[in-house]
Amino acid sequence: MRLRSQFMLLGVFLLMFGACTEKVQTDLAKTAFIPKPVSVTATGRAFDINSSSTVFVHEGADHLVNSAKFLADAIGHLTGSSVAVETVSDAPAKGIYLSLTADDKIPAEGYKLSIGEKLISIEGGDEAGCFYGIQTLLQTLPATITPGEKLIVPTGAVSDAPVYSYRGVMLDVARHFFSVKDVKRFIDFLAEYKMNTLHMHLTDDQGWRIEIKSWPKLIEVGGSTEVGGGKGGFYTQEQYKDIVAYAAEHFITIVPEVDMPGHTNAALASYAELNADGKARDLYTGIDVGFSTFDAHKEVTYKFIDDVVREVSALSPGPYFHLGGDESHATKHDDYVYFVNRVQGIVQKYGKQIIGWDEIANADMVKGAAVQFWADAENTSLGLEKGAKVLVSPASRAYMDMKYDTTTVLGLKWAGTIEVDHAYDWQPDTVVAKLTKEQVLGVEAPLWSETITNLNELEYMVFPRLPGYAEIGWTKNEDRNWDEYKVRLSKFGKRFEAQGVNFYRSPLVPWEE
Ligand code: ACM
Repeated sequence: MRLRSQFMLLGVFLLMFGACTEKVQTDLAKTAFIPKPVSVTATGRAFDINSSSTVFVHEGADHLVNSAKFLADAIGHLTGSSVAVETVSDAPAKGIYLSLTADDKIPAEGYKLSIGEKLISIEGGDEAGCFYGIQTLLQTLPATITPGEKLIVPTGAVSDAPVYSYRGVMLDVARHFFSVKDVKRFIDFLAEYKMNTLHMHLTDDQGWRIEIKSWPKLIEVGGSTEVGGGKGGFYTQEQYKDIVAYAAEHFITIVPEVDMPGHTNAALASYAELNADGKARDLYTGIDVGFSTFDAHKEVTYKFIDDVVREVSALSPGPYFHLGGDESHATKHDDYVYFVNRVQGIVQKYGKQIIGWDEIANADMVKGAAVQFWADAENTSLGLEKGAKVLVSPASRAYMDMKYDTTTVLGLKWAGTIEVDHAYDWQPDTVVAKLTKEQVLGVEAPLWSETITNLNELEYMVFPRLPGYAEIGWTKNEDRNWDEYKVRLSKFGKRFEAQGVNFYRSPLVPWEE
């Protein structure tokens, strides 16, 4: 009897202990990270982030203070109590400590995250690397906790760095306009998955979205509508600078795109003199492409472009200016080549490197130019022969405006349907014959907005595909496979819910409840 009751007691104890250990996960190797890090080693113990945890920043690394506050806010948001940030000249004995590497063992954007029982240390190869270490640390925490629950981080080490230096998405704010607030929320998403570039498609047939002080009618007229005839909108230069600054705080570079010589109806409606016949075009709110063009032989065209590139470049600290160049079906081939060559000279004059959709490979490629592969492998190969790098965005894999399947209400399907496995399961360096990894600038997933009218719809098309694109840009091909990835992704459903993200519950992902 006695023995039996002892066993029963042990059973109860094991049950309680079991329940406890299930809740308090102390195996870092079991944590689901996206993008998948280079290496994770677990030491099986626990660091307890209690209300007295402080985030320390190594003296002199000023930009780290912003990142430290970002981390302190994120922990505070979860626990409901505030976390202090302090500057120190030496590593503390306990707390969370951010520093930059003293040697060059950690590459640019790389980091080493070391989690002990008393001290968490994040050492960045640079400030961006330190920020990515913070994002990894945040992924060790649960999506939500109940009041009073301990916040436990499993101990061990993560060593990490990205494969590609350009990891981005594109947002089309021309077909439908998105407010500064919406764009900032999108930037938060990118930062979470260590993406570093937001390409903004600022102009198209249906709308001109960026204030150009020397050509004010672009926003007054060209910014006044959108697809479907809504009121459109635009960013003042101050608002655009605010987006650029917010992005920079999250280590994200804005690549501005002014699409030309086609996709220019909004500009042609704003200024009569830009048209070959001197007559202003009507505003356009449909979704056809390929009918508009700048006149390649009018000098005013280049005066206009010079002003636009000068003003936009002055607002954009990043290295790139995207000149569009796609689907210029209303421009004669020779005019197109002449036009793109002249515009490349203007972009270079303002100190920027060129990116253009793959059609621009038909022109000369100036030094440092990149061709964005979206549809045409031949164009892309031509660009490679001319010395350009390739930004990889195959429409059939990477266009986030493509429907998930034929039942998806939003989106288009001209490039096919893109379920979450199809979006994930491909390699950037094999999309075009003879491409080498060194020729790939990086990976970008565009979101065109013909059918996407608000943030809620944006989220639905972006999630859960976006984390997969982030991983394609960050993690080596040989370390990725769909069957393993889908299990990690399944654990992010709770995070999406906690963030209020409207996401597509793909039946291919075994979502964790
Ligand atoms: C494109 O999708 N027209 C680049």
